[in-house]
Amino acid sequence: MGYMPAITLGQTCVMPVIGMGTATYPPADVETAKNAIVEAIRAGYRHFDTAFAYRSEQPLGEAIAEALRLGLIKSRDELFITTKLWCSFGQRDQVVPAIKLSLQNLQLEYVDLYLIHWPIRLTHHINSTPVPKDHIVPMDIKSVWEGMEECQKLGFTKAIGVSNFSCRKLDELLSVAQIPPAVNQVEMNPLWNQKQLREFCKEKGIHVTAYSPLGANGTKWGDNRIVECDVLDEIAKARGKTTAQVSLRWVYEKGVSIVTKSFNKQRMRENLGIFDWSLTEEESNKINQLPQRKGVTMASILGPHDLVLEIDAEI
Ligand SMILES: NC(=O)c1ccc[n+]([C@@H]2O[C@H](COP(=O)([O-])OP(=O)(O)OC[C@H]3O[C@@H](n4cnc5c(N)ncnc54)[C@H](OP(=O)(O)O)[C@@H]3O)[C@@H](O)[C@H]2O)c1
Repeated sequence: MGYMPAITLGQTCVMPVIGMGTATYPPADVETAKNAIVEAIRAGYRHFDTAFAYRSEQPLGEAIAEALRLGLIKSRDELFITTKLWCSFGQRDQVVPAIKLSLQNLQLEYVDLYLIHWPIRLTHHINSTPVPKDHIVPMDIKSVWEGMEECQKLGFTKAIGVSNFSCRKLDELLSVAQIPPAVNQVEMNPLWNQKQLREFCKEKGIHVTAYSPLGANGTKWGDNRIVECDVLDEIAKARGKTTAQVSLRWVYEKGVSIVTKSFNKQRMRENLGIFDWSLTEEESNKINQLPQRKGVTMASILGPHDLVLEIDAEI
């Protein structure tokens, strides 16, 4: 297994810098996802990112059990597992039951990190998108966060955090939190560099994790603007790397951790090959100057409703 730096959240919670994403749409069948995750463990991944909404908790749980059976890992403690509170559980009294459900899906006693998936509440469980406008309401961040804190106090998760939170939403949360969020997981790549949010999080001691670092190439919610970006391609060719590796390296050099998904045996290994080289200052500056455009929006998933558009527009 190659070198993998790690971030320490709080006192003891050690998160490998690269995590394997598990979001697919439509959701991959359990066997496909499970086999890909076992392969990822074999390739050296020890950090996995799932969510109730991805329906990948069950295959991840099965893959962990299989990896233990195969002796790829000796104990579950060797893994760092993140899952997320879905918006349809966005009320105080739903949070602890929601993490229990996730733990049951995962066949685990605890996760390492539990995140609020999006700062919005859905009044109904959804089976399809877009969602009717009247099913989307603001989240009461204070009371939901109390539920998150209870999850940590009960030992169901080692750390708690958020995802898709703007500076404004983080401010609101920090003003009421007893346990501050350890992590904010947001879209970040050379074409959406989150400069302002990263600076804010650094000042407040919140670690940033980048999702869709490859622009979610080939997914329903992303495109090929990163893997086919001319500037990244030029650097990749000069360095004997791929555009994906250049993007991941650039993200890593910004001091954030990464969750990136590949269920392909070769690409999942390729994506780990970013620690034995670095970008020059000139290369890094070129990437810093790329025009910016947010790729993943909640409106593209839930529908272009006022509240959703408002949250998408916050930085
Ligand atoms: N918190 C949130 O709201 C949120 C939102 C989005 C994503 N996430 C998490 O972050 C993870 C990663 O983000 P993402 O899946 O959106 O996007 P991503 O990691 O940027 O891209 C994944 C896509 O790129 C392809 N790919 C992987 N490696 C590649 C390479 N070396 N060259 C070319 N293509 C490559 C994958 O296809 P193959 O599998 O065929 O290789 C997959 O279709 C998700 O899986 C999920 O766990 C969180």
